[in-house]
Amino acid sequence: MPKSPARIRKAVFPVAGLGTRFLPATKAMPKEMLTVVDRPVIQHVVDEARAAGIEHFVFVTGRNKGVIEDHFDIQFELERTLAERGKEKELSTLQRDLPSAGQTSFTRQQSALGLGHAVWCAREIVGDEPFALLLPDMLHFSAEPCLSKMIKAYNEVGGNHSAVSPVPEDQTHNYGIVGVEDPKSDVSKITTMVEKPKPADAPSNLHITGRYILQPEIFELLEKQKPGAGNEIQITDAMLGLLEREHQDFYAVRFEGEIYDCGSKLGFLMANVAYGLSREDLSAPFRAELNRALSK
Ligand code: UTP
Repeated sequence: MPKSPARIRKAVFPVAGLGTRFLPATKAMPKEMLTVVDRPVIQHVVDEARAAGIEHFVFVTGRNKGVIEDHFDIQFELERTLAERGKEKELSTLQRDLPSAGQTSFTRQQSALGLGHAVWCAREIVGDEPFALLLPDMLHFSAEPCLSKMIKAYNEVGGNHSAVSPVPEDQTHNYGIVGVEDPKSDVSKITTMVEKPKPADAPSNLHITGRYILQPEIFELLEKQKPGAGNEIQITDAMLGLLEREHQDFYAVRFEGEIYDCGSKLGFLMANVAYGLSREDLSAPFRAELNRALSK
C-alpha cells in the first residue's frame, strides 16, 4: 500500500505587512485586527484553520503587531469581570476561541521584505514537515472551509497544493494565474504559474487565492530567492521553483465560494456585508437596513 502523506499539523499566518492600502486605520493597528462583523479578520482565518484540524498556529508578526499576540492570549481580568457580571455567552465565546497553551508560536519578520520572506521566517518553527499557509487578508467564505477541502485532497495525493478560483478572463493581469492539466476538474495538477499575465498570455483564468499546502523544501528555495515583483521576495517565485526545478507535484484545488480581499477597502466592506447577512442574529435587521440605505 502507498505510504499516506505526512499529516498537516501546522499553519503559518504571515501578518507582518504594512497595510498601506488601509492607512490611516493601520497606522497603529494591524490590518489583520480590523473586524468583519465582531471578529477580527485574523480570527476568521484561524477559525478556518482550526476547522481543518490544524493544531499549531504560527504567526509571523512585525512592528505594531503585538495586539495580535494579545488577541490569542487569555485576558484574565476581562474573563473574571464577565464571570462576575454573569455574561456567560460572551465568556464562552472568548473561551471557545482561545487556542490551548502551547498551540501558538509568534516570530518576527524584522523588515517587511515580502510575503516569501515572511514565510521563510517561520522555518525554524515549522521544521521539516509539510504545512498550511493562509494569507490572513483573504477571507474564503463557503459552506465547506477552503483549507478542509484542500487537506482532504492532500491526504489522497500528497504533494503541494494551492486553492484556485476563476476570474473574468480580462482580469488575469491582476492575479497569480496557474495552468492546469484539466481545468474542469476539482483537483488538477498544476503545469505552470504566472504572476499577473496579460489575458492573451494567461494559461487559464484560475487564480491563486491565498491558501496553500507546502512541502518544507520551500524554505530552502526561499532562502535563495531573489526579490521579484515590487522588489519583494515573492512566495510564487519559490513555488515555481518547487514545481519546475524540484519537479514536485503541485495541485490546484478549486475553491467554491466567495473570496473577500480584506486588504482592499472594497473587499473589506463586502466581507462585512456577506458575513453580516450570514449571521442568524443579524441577518434580518441588517438586510432591512441595507435595503433602506440602498433605496435612498
Ligand atoms: P499584502 O501585500 O496584501 O499586505 O500581503 P501588505 O503589504 O500589508 O498590504 P499593502 O499592500 O501595504 O496594503 C499579503 C499578506 O502577507 C503579509 C501581510 O501582512 C498580508 O497578510 N506580508 C506581506 C508579510 O507578512 N510580510 C511582508 O513583507 C509582506
